[in-house]
Amino acid sequence: MMQSTVLLLGLLSAVSAVPVEQLPLAAPLVESQIDSIFQTPQAPLTEPSAPRLHGKFLHVTDFHPDRYYKYGASIEDGSCHHGKGVAGYFGQEGSDCDSPYTLVNETFRWLAENLKDDLDFVIWTGDSARHDNDELIPRSEQEIVDLNQYMAQKWIDLFGTRKNSDRVRGVPHISVPVVPTFGNNDIAPHNIFRKGPNLWTKRFAEVWHDFIPEDQRHSFLAGGWFTSEVIPGKLAVISLNTMYFFDSNSAVDGCVEKSQPGYEHMEWLRVQLQILRSRNMKAILMGHVPPARTEEKTNWDETCWQKYTLWLDRYRDVVVSGLYGHMNVDHFMLQDSDDVDFAFLAQKNTSGTFEGLDGSTMDAAEPEAVRTKKNNKKKKGKKDKGDNKKKKLEKKRRKFLKKVGGPLAERFSVTLVSPSVVPNYFPTLRVIEYNTTGLESTTAADDQPSVLDTDVSAEHPEVSSQNTPGFEVEFKVPDAPSPTSPPGPAYSNQALSFLGYTQYFANLTRINAEVAAGGQSDPRVMFEVEYSTDDKSYRMKDLTVRSFYELAIRIAEEGDASARPHSQPTVAKRPKVNKAWRAFLSRAFAGFLDVDDLSDDLDAVQ
Ligand SMILES: *[C@@H]1O[C@H](CO)[C@@H](O)[C@H](O)[C@H]1NC(C)=O
Ligand SMILES: *[C@@H]1O[C@H](CO)[C@@H](O)[C@H](O)[C@H]1NC(C)=O
Ligand SMILES: *[C@@H]1O[C@H](CO)[C@@H](O)[C@H](O)[C@H]1NC(C)=O
Ligand SMILES: *[C@@H]1O[C@H](CO)[C@@H](O)[C@H](O)[C@H]1NC(C)=O
Repeated sequence: MMQSTVLLLGLLSAVSAVPVEQLPLAAPLVESQIDSIFQTPQAPLTEPSAPRLHGKFLHVTDFHPDRYYKYGASIEDGSCHHGKGVAGYFGQEGSDCDSPYTLVNETFRWLAENLKDDLDFVIWTGDSARHDNDELIPRSEQEIVDLNQYMAQKWIDLFGTRKNSDRVRGVPHISVPVVPTFGNNDIAPHNIFRKGPNLWTKRFAEVWHDFIPEDQRHSFLAGGWFTSEVIPGKLAVISLNTMYFFDSNSAVDGCVEKSQPGYEHMEWLRVQLQILRSRNMKAILMGHVPPARTEEKTNWDETCWQKYTLWLDRYRDVVVSGLYGHMNVDHFMLQDSDDVDFAFLAQKNTSGTFEGLDGSTMDAAEPEAVRTKKNNKKKKGKKDKGDNKKKKLEKKRRKFLKKVGGPLAERFSVTLVSPSVVPNYFPTLRVIEYNTTGLESTTAADDQPSVLDTDVSAEHPEVSSQNTPGFEVEFKVPDAPSPTSPPGPAYSNQALSFLGYTQYFANLTRINAEVAAGGQSDPRVMFEVEYSTDDKSYRMKDLTVRSFYELAIRIAEEGDASARPHSQPTVAKRPKVNKAWRAFLSRAFAGFLDVDDLSDDLDAVQ
């Protein structure tokens, strides 16, 4: 049935194509941050006049702007640069071509007219340059920087920047924080990112000047990673440089050797999370390449995946979620802390040393969920008599809870992958809602010194190695949450928990056809709602790990059903497949592909 890492792909039944004009405006307009900042220059920014939170932020990814895109070019070589063909005015949906400026410009116009005043911050997960897929027009380093500069300016035009005199320590210069990260196409050659400081960290420190907090510049130059305190004192977004974890980056080698930037990155991340815990703050992790991992394909080096999964387990009281792009499809994954293998991370493998490795030898370092599981096992042995139905049910329930790490499914963590703007299918945007209970008094900027300004080596002069029975790992294994601390926002609905998201898409098939038919003097791109997570297919009451776990089970059961289409070979009719599976399949490709065709393809593969 369900794999420990859920990686399923698919299509959709009912796209709710509500015209954008008919959508209710989500929140009443309030005084914008820019206004309040520019209006009252003398007032400290901590005055109650500071804008209140809207409980919403934007996740947008993989714009891939391409200034060589040609309307009416051929799509044959996947570039839409040459010849004559069908390349659409706003980009060619369902192709490998990148995004024309018309699409980028219209996306920002739509954001300005429909969303800008509702957003608390923006998570922008990279690939802001075209692909290097046209031998006739190879990319230059300068072009990549220029494209990124163009994109950065779009955000500044949308939100405006603070005046120099209004800058507050640790707070980004833009009025609504925008948090960028490196994509594998934001560098040249693509995928190759060496240990920093390097050309790219230096150039992007300038390009992203308005997004990287002043006190994070040092850290960014060193490795291309940084933290942005998007809700001061409450919530930080940690921008990971996933190029150091990316399996396709041949300039680096994983996360266990101290000489590797991946190792340094994980150390930095651990320290960030530790500090956030001590400040009673929460964190959203974000990056470009997601930690996707199946038997066939892994995006990250396994050592990085293992450490990341261990960190997420240990800081499950701090981390709200992980948000990524890169795959161009709509997707989510569960990381299973049971997959963390200390012997593997120890990397001091002499054959035989780890024979007989099992939970019993790992008490000091095993993920908390594993320990809980074992304790449950011990307790269970004592009772368990009597055979009435009630007891059986109770046993079943306990078995389930044990399996998933307690009622909150704390054994797992979740990664959300947003589909792209570049129209490999349809262009998309995602608006995530989070719980603002108790945050109402929060101001947009306070001048408390940011404690995130840390140098790993200064804080921790020596990375301590911790002995675990049987082997030694050369890194500090983070402490689990204190047993008295309540579950984090990823596990139970509270302040900063994600409540749901709305997925928007633009139907380029329709829009391009309208433009081609002529008559539009000022062609527009309108985004519409594709779905929201609380709709009748997904029925998610919130975005906690438990909710995703349950959705994954429903999707997988559906997937199982469709994997047995010929169990009644005489029945020609398609098997009735479950809503969640069909919805998941359709949504994976932003509603672009026909669900039934896709199901047929999948059946053929089975
Ligand atoms: C896109 O917008 C920029 C201004 O931000 C403008 O200079 C440019 O001409 C526009 N390009 C297209 C193709 O609309
Ligand atoms: C350690 O040894 C085990 C079993 O021999 C092997 O599967 C694993 O890949 C090794 N780990 C490393 C990091 O070499
Ligand atoms: C937000 O969290 C609080 C608990 O802190 C809960 O009572 C409330 O129902 C949550 N809000 C929403 C909209 O789910
Ligand atoms: C997009 O538009 C085309 C043409 O109008 C239509 O056939 C198709 O159903 C639309 N797709 C979605 C997902 O709305």
